[in-house]
Amino acid sequence: MDDTKTSLDVEAIKKDFPILSTKMSGKPLVYLDSAATSQKPMQVIDAITEYYKKYNANIHRGIYEIAEEATEKYEESKSKIAKMIGAESTENIIYVRNTTEALNLIALTWAEQNISEGDVILISEMEHHSNIVPWLLLSKRKKAKLEYIKVDRDTGLLNDESAKEKLENKPKLVSITYASNVLGTINDVKKISETAHKNGAMVVVDAAQAVPHMKVDVKGIDCDFMAFSGHKMLGPTGIGVLYGKKDILSATEPIMGGGDMIRSVSRYSCTWNDLPWKFEAGTSNIEGGIALGVAADYLNKIGINKIRSHEIELTGYALDRLSEQENVTVYGPGKNNLRSRAGVVSFSINGVHPHDVASIFNSEGIAIRAGHHCAMPLVTEVLGEPAVSRMSFYLYNSKEDVDKAMAAIEKVKQIFKIK
Ligand SMILES: Cc1ncc(COP(=O)(O)O)c(C=O)c1O
Repeated sequence: MDDTKTSLDVEAIKKDFPILSTKMSGKPLVYLDSAATSQKPMQVIDAITEYYKKYNANIHRGIYEIAEEATEKYEESKSKIAKMIGAESTENIIYVRNTTEALNLIALTWAEQNISEGDVILISEMEHHSNIVPWLLLSKRKKAKLEYIKVDRDTGLLNDESAKEKLENKPKLVSITYASNVLGTINDVKKISETAHKNGAMVVVDAAQAVPHMKVDVKGIDCDFMAFSGHKMLGPTGIGVLYGKKDILSATEPIMGGGDMIRSVSRYSCTWNDLPWKFEAGTSNIEGGIALGVAADYLNKIGINKIRSHEIELTGYALDRLSEQENVTVYGPGKNNLRSRAGVVSFSINGVHPHDVASIFNSEGIAIRAGHHCAMPLVTEVLGEPAVSRMSFYLYNSKEDVDKAMAAIEKVKQIFKIK
């Protein structure tokens, strides 16, 4: 179905999100921090309480009705997630806590078992710490080399020459963000994956800022692993996804042992359960998994392509409005490159610390993020800033929210006596 055509009915959508009719600092809440975590619709909140009220039981164990219902709903959620990202089956879908845990799980399993001294692990300068630190730790453990694809500060894009050179240098593993949480840059992960594979590398995609906002197709990209978080896509915290190709997951040993991940245990040996449970030791985040399925239903009902179109429109509008502002620096791809930009707009007001900016926004009821955004190599070394401010959009934001942010910028300038 072509769901890009009609624009979103933001007012109707907002009604599903109870928090969006509350106040902050005595003003109606304007939430512009969805890249940090998204708000949750009533449907997701209800799914959590319903589980506890009506069929709270452990999964994969009980031979009684409510346990079977819990198991069914939890597994159904994985089918929805598999479908959403174009995965073959639920065997590819491992539930973890978040993107960070998914990336660490790859580092501690496949990478731990396959990376050796001198191997190259390739990431980029625009990665979130959760796609840097696990590889830093691994490279120290294995005496492997961690290398970075450069980012062009002016365009906010990966530097083509650097990408070509580093990818052709036969890395063993390439781990790259689909969309930057600071610059908003959407990387051509399909092309990177193709080149990486030609050069013999395993490909990991950090899709924390992609899956919630755009159509993602793991088979089209042909990545070996993908990581994302439920809480950034209308789901609860504490549930995230690691996608992996079946043959790779099958050939990889688990790291966590315990209940649910085994088929049989004797005193001195054990065999593993089928995929994906082999990697899910112990009692799962049952209500989180179930509610994530409901979040996926909600996004599907609205239409992910429609959400993407809406965010492109809002981002274009925000970039236009910001370009009217003197003494404001905006980072990431420009207005002429909106298709390569997610709904994330980082900016600085010259001479004002981003924490002051965020605190003045707070006094206007507007939630934005300020800091290094867990991407210190990018913010401090590439952008050369100690911190930046960031607005990020989702399906419940409107142009009016952007207008309020612009008025808050005016207020910051007034207070700091800047033109
Ligand atoms: C690009 C990117 N990767 C990884 C993460 C980490 O996500 P989580 O904290 O849910 O593990 C984030 C969170 O902001 C992110 O934006």
